[in-house]
Amino acid sequence: MLSKKTKTFFFSSLLLSSTFFSQAHNVSEGYQKPTDPLVVQNLENWQDLKFGLFMHWGTYSQWGIVESWSLCPEDESWTQRKPEHGKSYNEYVKNYENLQTTFNPAQFNPQRWADATKKAGMKYVVFTTKHHDGFAMFDTQQSDYKITSSETPFSKNPKADVTKEIFNTFRNEGFKIGAYFSKPDWHSDDYWWPYFPPKDRNVNYDPKKYPERWENFKKFTFNQLNEITSNYGKIDILWLDGGWVRPFKTIDPKVEWQRTIKVEQDIDMDKIGTMARKNQPGIIIVDRTVPGKWENYVTPEQAVPESVISIPWESCITMGDSFSYVPNDNYKSSQKIIETLIKIISRGGNYLMNIAPGPNGDYDALVYERLKEISGWMEKNQSAVFATRAIAPYHEGNFYYTQSKDGKTVNIFHLDEKINYQAPSALSFTIPENFKPKSLKVLGVKNKIKWEKSGNSIEIKLPEERFQLKYTTVIQISE
Ligand code: GLC
Repeated sequence: MLSKKTKTFFFSSLLLSSTFFSQAHNVSEGYQKPTDPLVVQNLENWQDLKFGLFMHWGTYSQWGIVESWSLCPEDESWTQRKPEHGKSYNEYVKNYENLQTTFNPAQFNPQRWADATKKAGMKYVVFTTKHHDGFAMFDTQQSDYKITSSETPFSKNPKADVTKEIFNTFRNEGFKIGAYFSKPDWHSDDYWWPYFPPKDRNVNYDPKKYPERWENFKKFTFNQLNEITSNYGKIDILWLDGGWVRPFKTIDPKVEWQRTIKVEQDIDMDKIGTMARKNQPGIIIVDRTVPGKWENYVTPEQAVPESVISIPWESCITMGDSFSYVPNDNYKSSQKIIETLIKIISRGGNYLMNIAPGPNGDYDALVYERLKEISGWMEKNQSAVFATRAIAPYHEGNFYYTQSKDGKTVNIFHLDEKINYQAPSALSFTIPENFKPKSLKVLGVKNKIKWEKSGNSIEIKLPEERFQLKYTTVIQISE
């Protein structure tokens, strides 16, 4: 039997076979609150943002496959290789890496992305500057396996340094900027040394036995992160993925994938973190799944925690089924996306929604449709979303709660996940304890709302206008 405590942190709605949070796991365990006042302030501000954009984009989008993982010699559902991409493993790797020579996303126009996502209420962006496959989507000087190499056709394009273009464009639109970066690099000879075949996702030699090689890898990683935090303007979040690259002593044997780590892979996060903070004072650092000084917030994946988590956290969830571009992906409905956002913010978290650009350099048309629908909802309801905090009872039946930071306003979201939402003619819900409402409105409804309070609950009658409400009814009560 699981203890009650563990149960509390079970995640609901696991959507995909996920490589991280795929089992009961207390994400708050070992959390170390930052002490640097700038970081503390930035984290507080980041918790106001609520809705962020994640983008996985690389040469893999040309094959419409899962990002990087097919290079990993583990037999998992997300590492499968299509036979037409190579008969043997070695041939596959060669063909995969050759995708560099055809990558030419001619329609790349980050302004279009920023416009559409900004209207939909998104306030920060996290972009894959380098995924596990090692292909740099920025102009690194440490490797030629990069978008700006003459080997890559897109290098001739004036917007070839896509990381720079994306960061500058979104920053100009008021977004906070996050750099996703994979610590493991499956292209680097100092991570997967060609002398041995790779065995799994981990380094393929023992760093203790070959310290010089590991030292080279540490330098390489440090240098790339130094480039990202020096050459790309203000960066607000450094989002480090690939939690198997970690000090051996930090392995949590309760987590299945961490049990596969057999050797020391200490990348010297103190040195990296200190450098990043020197380049970017106050930068939030997320050394994912490695609790301690450098994991400033936690990142459940493809899942919504079932209850409130009192440390800073963010769920990353795909808009389709995949983090990377897949033709005809199964995009979630706008109602589902808004429901997910509401659940997450009522439990104190941020929602980092992933949209994958295609090989042509743009999103699918359906993505823009969804973003437009979400924009319509945001226009009316944003005051209940941004710069809010969780408040008990958090969630009761179909009702979800948030409060303004000064505690003077409480927002109650009514959902109905079973149907294409239609607001009922009457609703009744609990008021948070000790809250004394003086006024009440329903966002997006102009008519005065009739409401009656009895004991600790309120009943409202909704006018005809309710038929215009989409996805939710949002009630705002103020003291
Ligand atoms: C999963 C995927 C990985 C992706 C990450 C984003 O772990 O396996 O490729 O980058 O999710 O959170």
